[in-house]
Amino acid sequence: MLFEDDHLSDVPTPEPLTAGIVPESQVADLRVTRLALSHFRSYQEAMVETSGAPVAVMGPNGVGKTNLLEALSFLTPGRGLRRARISAVERLPAPGQSVGPAWAVNAQGCGTDGSFNLGTGRDPDFATGQDEERSDRRVVHIDGRKAKSQNSLGDVMHMAWLTPEMDRLFVDSATDRRRFLDRLVFGFTPAHAGQVSAYERAMRERSRLLRDGRFDDSWLSALEDQMAAAGVALAVARRQFVESLADAAELGISAFPAPDFALEGGIEDLLDRGAAVDAEDDLRDRLRGNRRLDAEAGRALVGPHRTDLAVRHRAKNMPAALCSTGEQKALLVSTILAAARLQKRARGSAPLLLLDEIAAHLDESRRAALFDEICALGSQAWMTGTDAGLFDGLRGRAHFLTVVEGKILELEHTKP
Ligand SMILES: Nc1ncnc2c1ncn2[C@@H]1O[C@H](COP(=O)(O)OP(=O)(O)OP(=O)(O)O)[C@@H](O)[C@H]1O
Ligand SMILES: [Mg+2]
Repeated sequence: MLFEDDHLSDVPTPEPLTAGIVPESQVADLRVTRLALSHFRSYQEAMVETSGAPVAVMGPNGVGKTNLLEALSFLTPGRGLRRARISAVERLPAPGQSVGPAWAVNAQGCGTDGSFNLGTGRDPDFATGQDEERSDRRVVHIDGRKAKSQNSLGDVMHMAWLTPEMDRLFVDSATDRRRFLDRLVFGFTPAHAGQVSAYERAMRERSRLLRDGRFDDSWLSALEDQMAAAGVALAVARRQFVESLADAAELGISAFPAPDFALEGGIEDLLDRGAAVDAEDDLRDRLRGNRRLDAEAGRALVGPHRTDLAVRHRAKNMPAALCSTGEQKALLVSTILAAARLQKRARGSAPLLLLDEIAAHLDESRRAALFDEICALGSQAWMTGTDAGLFDGLRGRAHFLTVVEGKILELEHTKP
């Protein structure tokens, strides 16, 4: 499941991507100017203020660099950049210490709609202090008001991230690539998260019925209707996004290779053949016809949960999976930057970028190009690295932070 949220209601089909384009004059930055962490992983209480300029967090292994980025990642819906459970990111008590209060992250900043104040954390109503009763409920406050759903965060904040674990994205499972894609689509079309949740909820319930041998036609038909409607809507959103992404990648930065993208799957074949309404009927019919097979397989054999994102290195005409480690990293960076440019056009601001150990695999010219592009995008990037020298190209343009004994300290600072 992409997003865990029990309060989702069905959401309308996404608008065409061009609907959100705003004039250049309205384009504003997205930035976090104050971040406070409480009982989050290695941090007991920590706070950092920024001008909105890029942030480079440096320091030896284990000081809390990735934890800081992970805390920021909880300002969007979902389970953050490590896909952790809500209770798992809570600070573990030191030996002899009792369990602390529920973790919380608070961010003040500015986006296209002005300033915001976002708060999230484990629901304190469930902070019983007893491990076995720990709850994974998450609360979200937006500008001081409790939000009905964590998906509301997507209206205020959008992010894209790259982590070292994603270095194997092109060789690992289609599930990881699909999740990566859906996150990017979600940054572009906030309603996408609701469609994915609605689809997956109906799919899970159908699979459970079939596994239990309950071939209740009206119940299954209702679930298949929901799967077909949400499934085609989300497949259409992915398709529109990937087409736009290809256009944005066309304008690529010289130091990074241009990627080609394709969506591969049965639902894409259906959409290739005709209108979305026909694809919806087709998907519904296929699900209905596949009930016995799906019961045997224990899962639905057709649908947008089977789609893969195929990426190729255009200049080499090579599947990304066959490219070198550095080339794969560069393709990932190209993809993220293209998505960021696209979001800037559509939403008025590029996403906040969380780039964990980003500089490690990039040579000097690519690092310089990346830093220039980040500054040009106008949204804040939070980067980490163990070696301060990797960020030399940002001197005078960024905050340089380090972490000492759980406190975030500023080494150097320049206004943007
Ligand atoms: N729930 C938790 N409570 C307390 N400490 C935690 C918790 N989860 C992780 N840690 C600790 O946080 C520390 C910092 O982790 P983090 O991944 O942020 O390090 P890092 O600075 O990114 O290191 P590296 O350079 O190796 O990537 C680790 O020592 C880890 O054991
Ligand atoms: Mg790290």
